[in-house]
Amino acid sequence: MTGGAGYIGTHSIIELLNAGHDISVIDDLSNSHIAALQRVRKLTKRDLAFMQADLCDTTAVSAELQRFRPDGVIHFAGLKAVGASVARPLDYYRKNVGGTLSLLAGMERVGCHKIVFSSSATVYGLPQYLPYDEQHPTVPVNPYGHTKLMIEQILRDWSVTHRDASAVCLRYFNPAGAHPSGEIGENPKGVPDNLMPFLAQVASGHRPALTVFGNDFETRDGTGERDYIHVVDLARAHLAAIEHVRTNSGFQVFNIGTGRGVTVLELAAAFTRMSGRPIATTVTARRSGDLARFYANAQRAEKTLGWTAQKSLFDICADAWRWQRQNPDGYDD
Ligand code: UD1
Repeated sequence: MTGGAGYIGTHSIIELLNAGHDISVIDDLSNSHIAALQRVRKLTKRDLAFMQADLCDTTAVSAELQRFRPDGVIHFAGLKAVGASVARPLDYYRKNVGGTLSLLAGMERVGCHKIVFSSSATVYGLPQYLPYDEQHPTVPVNPYGHTKLMIEQILRDWSVTHRDASAVCLRYFNPAGAHPSGEIGENPKGVPDNLMPFLAQVASGHRPALTVFGNDFETRDGTGERDYIHVVDLARAHLAAIEHVRTNSGFQVFNIGTGRGVTVLELAAAFTRMSGRPIATTVTARRSGDLARFYANAQRAEKTLGWTAQKSLFDICADAWRWQRQNPDGYDD
């Protein structure tokens, strides 16, 4: 698992270890914390291998693949901030696209032809219709989205080069929430870019108010509508996908979302109902590049992977809140 120490990686490890898989993690810890893996070991009572390395370091990556000999790879590692990708596009192409090429070179050397890739619904760009299904045109609107789509294309081309090759790309909508234990969660460095961690920090008194980026969108209440998917549901989608690539060949993409759109104000209200904490809000101008409505048709994942989201918006809020209260400083304490 590349990027396995991160937010979605750690939750996925728990599901995979509990299902009996053995795991080796490669992560450069640039946006993750080694303590998270220690907590995973504690929660699952299982061990896992770890190597700190940049995926672009093909020698290091190859050495670990030679040693561990995986049946399959789940590839999470990558940079993911939309704004930073506009400011530093070359970093994004080098790390995301270059890192994937390096990983595939290492996999070729050990004859591993099975991969699940952490893609994003951001590959679709502006909605031509809603909900987005997998046939929706892909026209990314920022370098981050371009890197995800390029990697999908690389995997599509690579998947025809071996008879047994299998690549699955999971296009995530908006991951949120935390592990129900409160031990594992999202640990953004500095001011959170994303809504849910920001909301949790307002509820806990770490920040004075939620800044709502625009209330003049064409939605029920004027604020942006998104498809929030519980991170444990998302982790389970990776378990279903790794089982799928083991027994199938070819290239496939799947939306991973709930099919339900929730606005910024609805999420804030749900958080207040659950936590009993009022959330002060200040409305500002729209954030550059933000869309009004963004939600999934996830029927293909249900049909082919047998996966659907099980958790509710209440679960997302309750688990994010438990994580926030138990770990006010994230993994730093
Ligand atoms: C974006 C990307 C997504 C990427 C994610 C990771 C798109 C369409 N989506 O998600 O692919 O994986 O970033 O960074 O490009 N909001 C506020 N106040 C805040 C924060 C957010 O009002 O302080 C609003 C936003 O305007 C938006 C919603 O909350 O309407 C969700 O925002 P966010 O959590 O940042 O996710 P996206 O922008 O949807």
